Amino acid sequence: MPVIDGKTVDILFSEQEIAQRNKALAEDIAKSRPQNLLVLPILKGSFVFAADLIRALHKANVSSSVEFITVSSYGAGQTSGDIHLLHDLDSDVTGRDILLVDDILESGKTLHFVAELMKKRGARSVAIAVLLDKHTRRKAPVEADYVGFPCPDQFVVGYGMDAAHAFRQLPFVGIVRESPPVLEKKP
Ligand code: IMP
Ligand code: MG
Repeated sequence: MPVIDGKTVDILFSEQEIAQRNKALAEDIAKSRPQNLLVLPILKGSFVFAADLIRALHKANVSSSVEFITVSSYGAGQTSGDIHLLHDLDSDVTGRDILLVDDILESGKTLHFVAELMKKRGARSVAIAVLLDKHTRRKAPVEADYVGFPCPDQFVVGYGMDAAHAFRQLPFVGIVRESPPVLEKKP
């Protein structure tokens, strides 16, 4: 089990499993034959997933341009009801197929906010790709079109996702263990 900065992190989804899912997701996205595709990762947590996904899309013969959007979220990971735009994208989205990319779909408030904004601005279509879906936490009326993995209702880190700014660099998705593993007593 990896120990990072003195903390044990249990691997939930390995680097290999994630790479396999990215390939499958890209092939699914390719089947929708997107036109003039704009991939729009929601920063910050999605940047690693998005970087791998656009390269998997390239291998599935899908070209894309990429812009970023940053919205406010509350606390270290959890989202408040109030979503604000912190950094907007530069391009006009009118008539374009947009693929929103996020690390986790939880309450859905973040993705609902951004999806509605893109529709209001005249996007031709708005699809959603998320690495992880915490389905039991949903509060807003939003579902992802492409899901890497269903996610247990636990706080996860790695592959772009942080806990208080740490662990984004991990190549896998993991769960930080609160206490060190209990060693079994020998008889
Ligand atoms: P929601 O769907 O609006 O509730 O927000 C989901 C966002 O909350 C994700 O984009 C993440 O930034 C963050 N988030 C939710 N759960 C976790 C977690 O387990 N680890 C890290 N970030 C999380
Ligand atoms: Mg996020």
